[in-house]
Amino acid sequence: MTVASGSNWNPDIYLRFAAYRARPAEDLMAQLKVTVAGDICDLGCGPGNLTLQLKQRWPDRQVIGVDSSREMLEAARARDKDNLIAWREGDIATWRADKPPALIFANASLHWLDDHQTLVPNLLQQLAPGGTLAVQMPQTAESKYSRCIYNVMRSPRWKAKVGDMSLHPDPRPAAFYYDAIAPFAAEAEVWETNYNHVLPGAHPVRDWMLGTSLRTVLGVLTEAEQPEFIADYDAETERAYPRQVDGTVLFDMRRLFILARRAG
Ligand SMILES: C[S@@+](CC[C@H](N)C(=O)[O-])C[C@H]1O[C@@H](n2cnc3c(N)ncnc32)[C@H](O)[C@@H]1O
Repeated sequence: MTVASGSNWNPDIYLRFAAYRARPAEDLMAQLKVTVAGDICDLGCGPGNLTLQLKQRWPDRQVIGVDSSREMLEAARARDKDNLIAWREGDIATWRADKPPALIFANASLHWLDDHQTLVPNLLQQLAPGGTLAVQMPQTAESKYSRCIYNVMRSPRWKAKVGDMSLHPDPRPAAFYYDAIAPFAAEAEVWETNYNHVLPGAHPVRDWMLGTSLRTVLGVLTEAEQPEFIADYDAETERAYPRQVDGTVLFDMRRLFILARRAG
């Protein structure tokens, strides 16, 4: 069993379901229009596959990929064989563009940060007037996959060690984001899509979550404890995710989208 080391991101595990993980991003990209001059910034660019797609779509623009994980940036640089992208190590919370970008794209990254009341309007206001903010986040609040992890974390076996830990801040409801950005936007929309990813394999939910928040818990457990925690998580998810007729599970993920054009 491969377990993400510490709390570091593991690009290989993350990319195991690359097509499914890319799907909401592609749905968001399908809505994008870049109509003003400026760079394109991919915040929380991860292994860089989406950053390169942005470059393919807008080859004449400078595209900048920002991430706080050295492992992710290393994987991104390796993927970018023609050095098309400016990769930057940085924290989205404090990141400031050198000059106002035409597009800020943040797929599956902002839910790792808190204080969205400040963060999201700040990103919109960094854009050039008429520039586009495009965000996608999983609606982790009340999700079955998060509930399964929390149930195990708070069970008698694990409570003392990880019972009080939080996986990451949960994104707020769609209406919250609309109100946060509308005062600074010429146009704004927020929507949600519930995906039912068809996952095969003996432990499909574990395999998906090892690429993301399950690694947060494993990072604070000892090597001996990790497989025990995973076994408990497997038991929890097997109860929560019944098999379909073909042996797969339907892994439902509600995703929140924010698309806004800066006023000005
Ligand atoms: C789930 S991955 C998404 C990667 C990519 N955007 C995609 O959709 O494939 C989340 C990424 O956000 C990055 N991240 C999380 N918090 C961050 C922060 N405060 N500043 C910069 N990057 C951050 C992580 O390092 C990770 O690469």
